[in-house]
Amino acid sequence: MDSTKYSLADFIDIPDQDIMGRARLFAAYAEDSRQRGHAHYRRISLDGSGPTMQVVDPLTGQVNEMIYMASNDYLNLTKHPRTIAAGRAALEKYGSGAGSVPLLGGTLDLHVELEQKIAKFKGCEDAILYTSGFGSNCGTLLAMLTDKDIAILDLLVHASIIDGCKNTNTRFFRHNDMKSLERALEKAKDKYRTKLVVVDGVYSMDGDIAKLDEIVEMAHSYGAYVMVDEAHATGVIGANGRGTPEHFGIEGKVDIVAGTFSKGLGAVGGFIAANRELIQLLHFFSRSYMFSTAPTPQATGSLIAALDVIETEPELRQQLWDNIHYFRDNLTQLGFDLGNSETAIFPIIIGDDLKVREMCRRCHELGLYVNPVQYPAVPKRLSRLRISLMSAHTREHLDKALNILEHVGKEFGVI
Ligand SMILES: Cc1ncc(COP(=O)(O)O)c(C=O)c1O
Repeated sequence: MDSTKYSLADFIDIPDQDIMGRARLFAAYAEDSRQRGHAHYRRISLDGSGPTMQVVDPLTGQVNEMIYMASNDYLNLTKHPRTIAAGRAALEKYGSGAGSVPLLGGTLDLHVELEQKIAKFKGCEDAILYTSGFGSNCGTLLAMLTDKDIAILDLLVHASIIDGCKNTNTRFFRHNDMKSLERALEKAKDKYRTKLVVVDGVYSMDGDIAKLDEIVEMAHSYGAYVMVDEAHATGVIGANGRGTPEHFGIEGKVDIVAGTFSKGLGAVGGFIAANRELIQLLHFFSRSYMFSTAPTPQATGSLIAALDVIETEPELRQQLWDNIHYFRDNLTQLGFDLGNSETAIFPIIIGDDLKVREMCRRCHELGLYVNPVQYPAVPKRLSRLRISLMSAHTREHLDKALNILEHVGKEFGVI
């Protein structure tokens, strides 16, 4: 099979193939991609997230040291001495697992400490912990909304939000477009029991920020609630890293604050912060919470320390922002199209899937680990390289990466 003629979207469903036939055809596509040096996904790291990483080349098996610009570990808390020490202490004290689901013995005092800490950090009364951010978004929405309700979603919200709305009515509004949101709210007026507007604080593939202040004001004026997914905002934006509500000075005004522990906080898991009554309801009706073993003690211990680090070491966030400004200024000067990015996520918009795969191959050959984002994850005309920065990138890493991107951009006629 010639993989350059297909995209992942072609394998979502193949009408005349059963599941095994579809898997066989996809295997042929994947192998051809690998042979062409386009096997950019599921690359294997030997040392974990950091400004550089030891990565196994899928074609040759060779291990290469690469500048790693594809992580969501924005403050590099995965490797912070305090998160490691706290995780180790929790592992020693409680063991390697929580042993049960949260309602049936799996709730540790450590979990409650983290719930209280993240709730306070987000300016909410209470919080609930999940073992993934995907599970928290999906499980919360499924528990809250039925066919009598409606979710009004920004067109670019995360997949976990879309999956969580499968049992309810949904309507999309154009990305960050207040007029489009108003039309959606107007249409939903007086028709549904619960109306919930859901947005991401920082968009994962674009790095732009939701107009949360305007969204909250408009939604509330129509009697709708607001849920914001703070996955890429926590630890990164707001004067104290508290996220999008802090960035806009509206802490305490967003009805439901969702987030993940796997990005800026450097471990794994998800949370929902809201009023005490809603959180209690989720304890008993959110299936991905009730029927799933509680987070590991190690992750929970590390996360308590991660929140302390965010509060007491603002220089990490400052370093991240210095890097963001330096990198954005240089990429813009080179002539790259960065869309509306404002944060640590830089989309380099190319608009041609095959060119994106080839550019990514060249970046990897030259020692820069970036990710391709192609159709159907984004529209075809907006396919891109996605770059993300960490506080731990040094000026030397940034300059090397800029040189590689300049070289590759010129080679492919993008700049
Ligand atoms: C915006 C957004 N929400 C939720 C998630 C899911 O979080 P997790 O990786 O913790 O499952 C992700 C990323 O993976 C994300 O980008």
